[in-house]
Amino acid sequence: MIGRNGIGIGIGIGHNLDGLSMKILLTGGTGYIGSHIAVVFAQMGHSVVLYDNLSNSSASVAGQINAITDEKCVFVRGDIRDTAFLQSTLRSQQIEAVVHLAGLKAVGESVEKPIDYYANNVQGTISLLEAMEAERIKTLVFSSSATVYGQPQYLPIDENHPTSATNPYGRSKLHIEEMLSDVAASDGGWHIACLRYFNPAGAHETARLGERPAGKPNNLMPFIAQVATGERTVLSIFGDDYETPDGTGLRDYIHVMDLAEGHAMALQFLISNAGWHAFNLGTGQAYSVMEMIKSFEKASCQKVAFNVAPRRPGDVAACFANPDKAMLVLGWTASRTLDDMCSSTWHFYQSFDNAAGKAKG
Ligand code: NAD
Ligand code: UD1
Repeated sequence: MIGRNGIGIGIGIGHNLDGLSMKILLTGGTGYIGSHIAVVFAQMGHSVVLYDNLSNSSASVAGQINAITDEKCVFVRGDIRDTAFLQSTLRSQQIEAVVHLAGLKAVGESVEKPIDYYANNVQGTISLLEAMEAERIKTLVFSSSATVYGQPQYLPIDENHPTSATNPYGRSKLHIEEMLSDVAASDGGWHIACLRYFNPAGAHETARLGERPAGKPNNLMPFIAQVATGERTVLSIFGDDYETPDGTGLRDYIHVMDLAEGHAMALQFLISNAGWHAFNLGTGQAYSVMEMIKSFEKASCQKVAFNVAPRRPGDVAACFANPDKAMLVLGWTASRTLDDMCSSTWHFYQSFDNAAGKAKG
């Protein structure tokens, strides 16, 4: 493909990691993003342990991952705040590296329940670090977020953009990043990557894995999908008077499988690079809410009814990545298109609804 800067790019994940097989623990491994990472890692020959308390996912996801990969991913039900159990899992599974996804992620809920967010996200990460240190496991990939950049001061956002937080969820991510930076500075044996995701979207091509929030979706893509299925009647566009080409908000949507492959490249990088590192995982391409609706309509052949509502408090007009560092340092770039994101989401929703019956609400 041709990258953002016109440079020819070949990811060649399999080639880059040939011969390397590790035992990797994924905290939050049965969640939306963790499940896709598990597939990528298992298909590369890694041994994968999914560690999850199932607060926002189901154990059946482990079965779906194994069905896709023909590999035996191990599922362990546990909470990251249970340091002793986490440590015994790290030891019994002979884990060599951890990808840390477990946590709570709803911005609005974090304002209502900040203690839950600091307990799960910050205290949970401290517990994980204690368990890892006790087992002398010092390779960690952390699921961070573009939310650590706060209100964009310039676009596209690179990793040198100042960090700040506008809500407890964002603050928990920032606290964790800062903690991890201190840990890496204290002991040269740590190898840590903070991956700042922009807007993950899409589903696995088999339609066995995807994102299906239980209640009313907070994020755009699942909301659009639920209007397309008829499960919800109308999408509210939060503001059409932004200073953007069509007045609606611009975001950097990234296919969840591209995101998952970024984790593989980050892990490979960490093997030979100690210290603390931050990388944006985005495409560098921004789409408006209106473009998302149109693209989903095209992929699904369904109308997506919408109305225009007031701006959502805290929203910004535009947020998108400068992904050059990940390309230059990790050799990673996103290759899937917006149409891939929409069609895989639609395929997943149709399969899910056919299998489970529509959860109206
Ligand atoms: P998700 O809710 O689908 O997955 C998170 C998983 O963590 C769930 O399976 C949940 O059961 C588990 N979990 C939560 N608390 C736990 C605990 N204390 N112990 C053990 N397991 C626990 O969310 P996701 O979209 O897959 O996000 C994964 C990570 O990526 C999160 O840390 C999130 O903050 C981060 N992230 C997500 C997005 C996004 O838009 N989805 C964007 C940026 C960053
Ligand atoms: C959200 C999170 C942010 C997180 C990011 C990536 C909030 C306030 N912020 O941001 O912390 O890092 O996801 O996961 O939740 N939109 C509508 N109608 C809807 C839903 C969304 O018009 O029903 C619009 C929004 O105004 C925005 C765009 O769609 O312009 C994307 O929204 P969303 O999916 O919630 O992502 P972010 O706002 O980028």
